[in-house]
Amino acid sequence: MKLTVTGVGYVGIVTAVCLASMGHEVTCLDVDEIKIALLKSGSPPVYEPELQEMMARHAQRLTYTGDAEAAYRDAEVIFIAVGTPEQPNGSANLAYVYEAARGIAQNASRDCVVVVKSTVPVGTNDRVEAIIKKNLAHNVKVEVASNPEFLAQGTAVQDTLHAARIVIGVESEAAEAVLRRVYEGFGQPVLVMGRKSAEMTKYASNDFLALKISYINEIANLCEEVGGNIDDVARGMGMDPRIGDKFLRAGIGYGGSCFPKDTLALHYVANQFDKDLKTVKATIEVNERQKARLIYKARKYFESLEDVPVALLGLAFKPHTDDLRGAPAFVNVANLLSEGAKLSVWDPVAMPAFKKHYPSGLRYCDNIEEALAGAELCLIMTEWPEVTGLDIQSFKRLMKRPLVLDGRNCFSPALFAGSGIVYDSIGRAVAS
Ligand SMILES: NC(=O)c1ccc[n+]([C@@H]2O[C@H](COP(=O)([O-])OP(=O)(O)OC[C@H]3O[C@@H](n4cnc5c(N)ncnc54)[C@H](O)[C@@H]3O)[C@@H](O)[C@H]2O)c1
Repeated sequence: MKLTVTGVGYVGIVTAVCLASMGHEVTCLDVDEIKIALLKSGSPPVYEPELQEMMARHAQRLTYTGDAEAAYRDAEVIFIAVGTPEQPNGSANLAYVYEAARGIAQNASRDCVVVVKSTVPVGTNDRVEAIIKKNLAHNVKVEVASNPEFLAQGTAVQDTLHAARIVIGVESEAAEAVLRRVYEGFGQPVLVMGRKSAEMTKYASNDFLALKISYINEIANLCEEVGGNIDDVARGMGMDPRIGDKFLRAGIGYGGSCFPKDTLALHYVANQFDKDLKTVKATIEVNERQKARLIYKARKYFESLEDVPVALLGLAFKPHTDDLRGAPAFVNVANLLSEGAKLSVWDPVAMPAFKKHYPSGLRYCDNIEEALAGAELCLIMTEWPEVTGLDIQSFKRLMKRPLVLDGRNCFSPALFAGSGIVYDSIGRAVAS
C-alpha cells in the first residue's frame, strides 16, 4: 500500500521503517529540513537500536520529503505522528496535529484514511476530521482513525515489530478494513473500538505504568526507613500475575517524552470535566520528588556540596536513547550547580543534546573513568550497560572519596560489602 507518515521523530520514523519492512511504500514527511536531509543521507534523526540498519535494508521503499503536496498526493493512508508536547497548564499542545490536518486537507487528491498516531486527548480525532472536511481542496473522501502508539524508546523497533496489541479506533467498517490491511503483515492482535475509547486507552495505559513506577518508588523509600529490601519486595509482588513484574524497578523516577506529559494531560482533561484524578495527581507529585532523591541522600554525607567534585553518570532518561525530555539528570544538575558542586558528566549518546542546555559550567567527559577521576561523590542517573558492567573497583581506584549514590540500582549492594566503597541505592540498605 502507499502510505505517508507525517512527522518523523521517534514514533514516525520507527513506524515508517517498520511499515516499509512489511512491504508498504512509505513516504516520510517532516517540516524539519535538517531531519529530512539527514534521512536522505541514510541517517535516522534519532538514536534507536536497529533503526539505521533497517532504514538501509528497506531504503527502496522509503522516500523522505518536506513537500506536503508530493507526500499526500497518492497516499491511501496518512499517519499523523507529530509531537503533542505539554503546555504550561499541563494540556497537550495540539497545534502540530491540527496543522498536519490542514496540510492533508489541502493536498489529499484521492480517497484516504488519516490515522492519528500521536497521543491526543479524547475528542481530538473528531476535531481532526472536522478540520479536514472543512478545508478539503479536492473532491475526495477522507476518514479519520485513531491508532495510538505504545512503543518505548530504546526498544522502539522491536516494540513495533512485536507489539502486544494494535489498538484501532474507527467509526466505520471501511476504515477498519483499511487499517487491518496495513497491519496484516505484523501478525499482531488487532483490537478494534471507537475512536474515543482508543484515545483514552493510550492515556489510561501510560498513566497506569507511571503510577506503578511512582508506587514502587514510594515503597522503596519506605523500605529504606524500615529496613526492607525493594528488590525482594518487587520480586514478591511481581510474581503475582495480577500485578506483573514490569515497571516495578525502583529508581529516581520516570522521564521521557511520554509519561511526564501524558500524566499531566490526563489530569488536565479530568479537570476540564470537573473531575480530580487523585491517583494521577499523586503519581506526578511522587515522581517530581523522587527525581531529587539522590540530592536528598547526598545531604546525609556532605554538609555542603560547594566545591565538591561530583561525577554524574548518565544523562538520558533511560539507556539506549539520547532523549533528554523529562530526564531526572536536569533536576540533579541544576541542584548540584546551584550548590556550587564541580560537576563532571558522562553519557555515551546524550551529551551533545545536553550541551545545548548546559554549554558551560560543567565538564563533559569522554569516558566514565575521566568523570570518576578525583570525584568525592558519584551519582548514577542512567543504567547504561557501560555503568552496569563497570568493575566496582574503579570507584575506589579513581575517586578521591569512593561514595556512590545509585539512582538506578545498577549493582547488588552485596558486591560492595567490605569494599571500602560506600554504596547507597534506592530502597536497599547502604553497603560499604
Ligand atoms: N516518543 C515515544 O516514546 C512515544 C511513544 C508513544 C507515543 N508517542 C506520541 O507520539 C507523538 C510523536 O512523538 P515523538 O516522540 O515521535 O515526537 P518528536 O518530537 O520526536 O517528533 C515529531 C516530529 O513531527 C514533526 N512535525 C511537527 N509538525 C509537523 C507538520 N505539520 N508536518 C510534518 N511534520 C511535523 C517535527 O518536526 C518532528 O520531527 C506524540 O504525540 C507522542 O506523545 C511517543
